[in-house]
Amino acid sequence: PEPRVEINANEAALTVANCIIDLVRQKPDAVLGLATGGTMEPVYAHLVATYRRGEVSFAKVTSFNLDEYVGLPPSHPGSYRSTMNRLFFDHVDIDPSRTHLPDGMAGDPESAATAYEADLARLGPVDLQLLGIGRNGHIGFNEPGSALDSRTRQVELHASTLEANRSFFECGTVPHHAITMGIASILDARRIIVLATGEAKAEAVSTALSGTVSEACPASALFLHDQVEWVLDKAAAAGL
Ligand code: F6R
Repeated sequence: PEPRVEINANEAALTVANCIIDLVRQKPDAVLGLATGGTMEPVYAHLVATYRRGEVSFAKVTSFNLDEYVGLPPSHPGSYRSTMNRLFFDHVDIDPSRTHLPDGMAGDPESAATAYEADLARLGPVDLQLLGIGRNGHIGFNEPGSALDSRTRQVELHASTLEANRSFFECGTVPHHAITMGIASILDARRIIVLATGEAKAEAVSTALSGTVSEACPASALFLHDQVEWVLDKAAAAGL
């Protein structure tokens, strides 16, 4: 389907939050695939506000986040575990034991990645996967060049991604590695919603939606899935 274009980033986030709420109302024990990043912050704010109004419950939901930095303890404010707690988990009735992120502190990141993939196989499939997109077209931390059949694994972050994420860290301590769900793991979801806002994403969005699937733009792999919805603001849709 055509991407849905909203007038601004907040409206786009509201549209995505409402899709999640509709699903959880219909299927209280839904498995949600979650993402971090600045784009998602207003989505979580809307989910928390809706929960506070008593209009949705996450008590039976299971969640899997896309990725986590390697070498950051969950208590580190830059870790995605602590980010998810701060933005979402701590403010709703989700059962913390049903929230999953890759273990960035594992002594052996590759076996932590394999264990994560096994958890996904056991508790999945993901009903609804929320995705952002990097300026270079990455999804999760699958940077350009990632294999389309990739699974959860340790990856090295590209310089542009380190730069984009620098503001989340103090004095140059941005981690250089992450554990990410692979492109094939992401495509296992029943349904996928991509949220992209702001002019910095316009080029990646138009490349991803061109219909040419290429490892050079990991988000272009979404063309291979038949239940993908794109929600954009006007700025991110500018190149379409
Ligand atoms: C985060 C993730 C990333 C982000 C992407 C966009 O879990 O998987 O792919 O979605 O880097 O980040 P923002 O929203 O900060 O521009």
